[in-house]
Amino acid sequence: MPAKIRTATLAKMKAAREKIAALTCYDYPMAVAVDAAGVDIALVGDSLGMVVLGYESTLPVTLEDMIHHTKAARRGIKRALFVADLPFMSYQVSPRQALESAGRLIKEGGAEVVKLEGGLEMAETTRVLRRAGIAVMGHVGLTPQSVHALGGYRRQGTSEAQARALLAGAKALEKAGACAVVLEVIPEKLAARVTKALKIPTIGIGSGPSCDGQILVLNDALGLSPDRVPSHAKVYTRLYDQALKAAKNYVSDVKDQRFPQR
Ligand code: KIV
Repeated sequence: MPAKIRTATLAKMKAAREKIAALTCYDYPMAVAVDAAGVDIALVGDSLGMVVLGYESTLPVTLEDMIHHTKAARRGIKRALFVADLPFMSYQVSPRQALESAGRLIKEGGAEVVKLEGGLEMAETTRVLRRAGIAVMGHVGLTPQSVHALGGYRRQGTSEAQARALLAGAKALEKAGACAVVLEVIPEKLAARVTKALKIPTIGIGSGPSCDGQILVLNDALGLSPDRVPSHAKVYTRLYDQALKAAKNYVSDVKDQRFPQR
């Protein structure tokens, strides 16, 4: 098995200009698959709420939901750096709340790194977590937990003022000790600017090819959420269609008495 990926590995990959491949996963079998495929980062994202639990947004996801799925995925991961999202309102109240929630994701869920959304406003929380020995990944740009404040799932950092604020936020997270930062749905040029300005890796989603790595929501890549695939996602296979066909074949086999065989 290739060497275990650790937070320090990410920095080395950036320095060596080796691209970082990240995918989400939410349960044991998919964690086994993404780890065996050689992803560098496996993220139990709170996208869980939309692609697995059927919510309209990530907002209803609870810390208990995240711990439950993080535990399951944990058992399937051997090599990838294993990251889990802090869900909405499990860390925004205070650094102390963040410490307690992150502690549970690590102790009970088995996460190696916790990810939180926000730039400058999350620098102090990141610092507090790092002081407690907790590894942190940042997430700026389109931060889905702020969907209502942002006015929808729309590209961020489009004006120069917004771009400067986003860059300052990413720099503040780096200074506070974040090991990497996700750049979600920002202009390619801005992603390139942030990537150049930071020593820690940037992991892009819908932000162009200049980022140090890329992340996709696994269910989008597998074609498991056919009715709401974001335009930036690449669909590698159509598992929903295959599952539908298999289930239909099973139903007709039972109805027509082809299964089980006599
Ligand atoms: O929740 C999630 O899956 C994420 C990725 C899209 C980065 O945060």
